[in-house]
Amino acid sequence: MLHNGPEGYGWLSKVLHWGTVLALVAQFVVGYAMDVDGGGRGRGRGRGGGSGRGRGRGGEEGYGVLDDRLLTLHVSLGVLIIVLALARLAWRRVDGLPPWSDRLGARQRTLATWTERCLMGLLLVIPATGLVLVLSSEDDLLWLHVAAHVAFFVVLAAHVALVVGKRLLPRMW
Ligand code: HEM
Ligand code: HEM
Repeated sequence: MLHNGPEGYGWLSKVLHWGTVLALVAQFVVGYAMDVDGGGRGRGRGRGGGSGRGRGRGGEEGYGVLDDRLLTLHVSLGVLIIVLALARLAWRRVDGLPPWSDRLGARQRTLATWTERCLMGLLLVIPATGLVLVLSSEDDLLWLHVAAHVAFFVVLAAHVALVVGKRLLPRMW
């Protein structure tokens, strides 16, 4: 069934949920690979001036072609993640959510509501901090992007703990 309803989540919600998870896994792999591949923090992420060079601009000495390609892939995946998040928000508005599982008490429903809100928000905030990193000439802004990742992992841990603890996985499968 397409729609969310008393039967549970419809297929569109499921495809959007697991599509986002896959895109995120790929994105973290690419993100860490970029770093390992020599895009080290001390190499100057700045745009102008002598030592810095623009991220994603390519072609100048100091960065491998692979690193530039990975950054292009990273930005593209970031855009995909934003599109998926916006599609989900739109679909939630149009279609609503299915009724809660009986296994969740009032407190756990509140926890689920807030973890899901934070996760959705972070799907927009993480790419935004990446964009700030690319657009700014500041070498020191990586922490902002990394802080958003750390927040994401903390909230994700709560989300997965609730799903596993209350055996909710079949609802989204
Ligand atoms: C949900 C989306 C995103 C995720 C999960 C993500 C994840 C990551 C990760 C894991 C790293 C490595 C950080 C580290 O070294 O500890 C990274 C680095 C980076 N990301 Fe993202 N990112 C996302 C979106 C974006 C976007 C949209 C942009 C740009 C428009 C971007 C630009 C960068 C840059 C410039 C770096 C630094 C790479 C380096 O130091 O060599 N990110 N990202
Ligand atoms: C990695 C990033 C993840 C994000 C951003 C995310 C986000 C969300 C959101 C926003 C919902 C609410 C329903 C909706 O709007 O689609 C949800 C529900 C759900 N998620 Fe995730 N999720 C993630 C990972 C996971 C993982 C790894 C699992 C499996 C362990 C999982 C299992 C579930 C289940 C079972 C539900 C349905 C809960 C219920 O209503 O009973 N999610 N998720």
